[in-house]
Amino acid sequence: MINSSRWASFFFCWTLLAVCFATLARAETEIEVWKSPTCGCCSAWVDYMQENGFKVIAYNTDDMVSVKLQLGLTDRSLYSCHTALVDGYVIEGHVPVHDVRRLLVERPDIVGLTAPGMPQLSPGMGSIEPKGYDVLSVSADQQVSIFSRY
Ligand code: CU
Ligand code: CU
Repeated sequence: MINSSRWASFFFCWTLLAVCFATLARAETEIEVWKSPTCGCCSAWVDYMQENGFKVIAYNTDDMVSVKLQLGLTDRSLYSCHTALVDGYVIEGHVPVHDVRRLLVERPDIVGLTAPGMPQLSPGMGSIEPKGYDVLSVSADQQVSIFSRY
């Protein structure tokens, strides 16, 4: 009798733990990333986002411009290498994870964020700690404003 109730509580605890882990796993935010197959800094940014708890789904494509246009980035001066989509927002280039998280909390009415070009000291490039560039928010009509300054 004692034995079987011990087994029951043992089983109950493990079930509870399994449910907890399953919930945690589901709570991971999914982010889709389009990149060219040969882009090293793109893969480095993908790794960086993964290390920071995002569930990254990466696609290789040779036609990045079509992806950007389709996602609502029409001003080419705002372009970087890879393009990501998280919860309906576009993340263009080497945007720090801090800005992505802030975006998902604040949820402004914009297309998304961009770090145009290839900032030398940015996650996926030369430095995990961003330095010397701005992250811009982009509206549907491609108006930009500074979201973060590094
Ligand atoms: Cu890059
Ligand atoms: Cu890239």
